[in-house]
Amino acid sequence: MDLRLIISKDGSHTIYRKDIDETYHSRHGAVQEALHVFISKGLKEIEKPKRPINILEVGFGTGLNALLTCVNSTSEVNYIGLEANPLSIKVLDSLNYDATVIEDNSHEVFKNIHNSPWETLCSITSLFSIKKVETTIQNFEITQPIDLVYYDAFGPNSQAEMWDISIFEKIYKAMRPQGVFVTYCAKGQVRRDLKSVGFVMERLEGPPGKREMLRGRKL
Ligand SMILES: C[S@@+](CC[C@H](N)C(=O)[O-])C[C@H]1O[C@@H](n2cnc3c(N)ncnc32)[C@H](O)[C@@H]1O
Repeated sequence: MDLRLIISKDGSHTIYRKDIDETYHSRHGAVQEALHVFISKGLKEIEKPKRPINILEVGFGTGLNALLTCVNSTSEVNYIGLEANPLSIKVLDSLNYDATVIEDNSHEVFKNIHNSPWETLCSITSLFSIKKVETTIQNFEITQPIDLVYYDAFGPNSQAEMWDISIFEKIYKAMRPQGVFVTYCAKGQVRRDLKSVGFVMERLEGPPGKREMLRGRKL
């Protein structure tokens, strides 16, 4: 796979995949986008239960969303990150997220997330555990009730199969009532498909460089 490291507008790295002409995060600011879409409009918006929050990420990629969740969560989190094509340690080591996500423990957290073995639930901090699974969302059986979904697939124009309504149905069924689904994608067809499987949909202001994003709730 031809992968190139690029610096996005907020100074944080993202990865460009040449074969599909896609980046892992926005060129307008990778950290800014992840903070806006997944942390502000997702993690910070769910009701805090007295039990751990189960988060499912579709497209674990660089682990940036996982890092930001770990350093921003005040509740206990069990994080499941699905990834069809894990990045090599060499690529992951070249990312500057521990320098751009300025938290005391971000370097340690990022390293530990990536050093944790795949297919195993690993404790990273007292509040954050992660299980990275090398699989596709299509083949993954969701066995835990999910509170929050980060849908971070490549866009519908380059990977249409990731936006198939059958995936949304499967995710909706696995979610708890009051569960929240967030994605950077704002395409009308995606919004209509999410609505048709049962989500109550909102169009929200997007991150820098993007007008809108989508959030769905299971009532
Ligand atoms: C936009 S990037 C995700 C960025 C990531 N969330 C991060 O924090 O770096 C999309 C990711 O989805 C992965 N992917 C592609 N097909 C997939 C599938 N069928 N199931 C799960 N992940 C998939 C890609 O390999 C890529 O890592």
